[in-house]
Amino acid sequence: MPSVELVGVTKRFGRKTALDNVSLRVEDGEYAVVLGPTGAGKTTLLRIVAGVLKPDAGEVRIGEAVVNDIPPDERGVALFFQNFALFPHMTVLDNVAYGPRMRGLPEQDCIRIAREMLDLVHLLERANSMPHELSGGMQQRVALARALATGANLLLLDEPLSQLDARIGEELRYELRRFVKDLGLTAIHVTNDVDEAMAVADKIVVLKRGSVIQVGSPEEVYLKPKTPFVASFVGEATVFEAIVRAVDSERVRVEAMGVEIMAYAQGFSGGDLVVAAIRPESIRLLREAEPALANRLEVTVERISFIGGMLRVECGVVGTDLKLLSLVPDEENVELAEGEKLFASFSPEEVSIYPYPSEGLFRELSLE
Ligand SMILES: Nc1ncnc2c1ncn2[C@@H]1O[C@H](COP(=O)(O)OP(=O)(O)OP(=O)(O)O)[C@@H](O)[C@H]1O
Ligand SMILES: [Mg+2]
Repeated sequence: MPSVELVGVTKRFGRKTALDNVSLRVEDGEYAVVLGPTGAGKTTLLRIVAGVLKPDAGEVRIGEAVVNDIPPDERGVALFFQNFALFPHMTVLDNVAYGPRMRGLPEQDCIRIAREMLDLVHLLERANSMPHELSGGMQQRVALARALATGANLLLLDEPLSQLDARIGEELRYELRRFVKDLGLTAIHVTNDVDEAMAVADKIVVLKRGSVIQVGSPEEVYLKPKTPFVASFVGEATVFEAIVRAVDSERVRVEAMGVEIMAYAQGFSGGDLVVAAIRPESIRLLREAEPALANRLEVTVERISFIGGMLRVECGVVGTDLKLLSLVPDEENVELAEGEKLFASFSPEEVSIYPYPSEGLFRELSLE
C-alpha cells in the first residue's frame, strides 16, 4: 500500500491561497486525519491528492512516485464524499460491483469482491435491496463498500460521517478505521470534528488557513499543542493573554487581568506579552482553598452541562472578566450548583505559555 507525500504544495483560487506551501507525509498503512476548521483547505488538499485539482506549485508523491502528471483514474485512489450518492436504480450488490465491472474483471470476480466488501460493512444480507430501502447509515456503508471495491489502496475521505445521525456516525467511525486496517489501506480522512479525529487517527495534521500547524499522534496534539490555536481548537483549553511579571530558571509568573498565575516555561523575560493556555481537565474545582497550591483562584460557577460522564463547568474568576472551563468526572462533584463560589486550582506544569502571536490572539483563535 502506498505512502503519500506532499512537498511544498500551494494552490490558489484567484487571490485566495487555499493551500500555502503544504508539506506532509502519510506512511504506508497509516490512517491520517487532516483536522481543521471550515475553509482551512481540507477538501482542496484531498482533491490535489486525488488528481482532480492541479497544484500551482509543489509535488505530490504516491508510493514515492511523483504523480503530478498522472490522471486521477491511474492513481489508485478512491475519493469518498459525505453525500456520495448510490445509483438509485441498482441493487446494493450491483452498486458495489460497479467498480470491478468497470475495470473489466470477470463477472464471478466482480460478484465475489462485491460480496466481500458488503460482508466487511455488515450488509451482505441486504445485497438484493434497493438503496432507498436502507437507512442513511446503511447507505453510507454501501457507498463505502463501493469505494473500497474499486481496488483503490489509497482511501481519501472528505467529512465521510458529517451527514449522519451523531450516534451512527460514531459507530461508523470505528468501522471506517477497521476497514482500512483490515484491508491494509492508507487513508487520508479530513474533518472539522475534533472527537472524530481523536477517535480514528494514527496521525493528526492540523490545518488552518492553508497551512499545516502541527502534525502528531492524537495524544501529542492534545497534550502538547504547538500553538494557542491548537490548544483551543483541539483541547478546548482556556486561552488568554498575559504579561510576564517574573522569571526564574524554570518558571514564570504571569498576570492576566490582575490574576497571577505560575507556569513552567523558559525563554521569556519580564514584561513579555504572552498567551497562556490551560486544558479543562487540568483545572480542579475545590470547596476548600489549600493554601499550598501555586495556582488557586476564587471562581463563581456560571454554567454546568453534562457530556459523556463528565461535568463541563464554566467559571468566572471573581473580580475579573477571566473565564475558565473545567471538565470534572461527574461522580466527584454531583453537588455543584450554578452561582456557587469555589476555588479553581491547576499546577504550574499544566499551564502552557506561548509567545504572543504576530497576527493577534483574536485572529489566532478565529475559526475563519
Ligand atoms: N473552486 C474554488 N474556487 C474558488 N475558491 C475556492 C474553490 N475551492 C475552494 N476555494 C476556497 O479555498 C479555501 C479552502 O477551501 P476548501 O474547500 O479546501 O476548505 P475546507 O477545509 O474543505 O472547508 P470545509 O470544512 O468548509 O469543507 C476556501 O476559502 C474556499 O472558499
Ligand atoms: Mg471541505
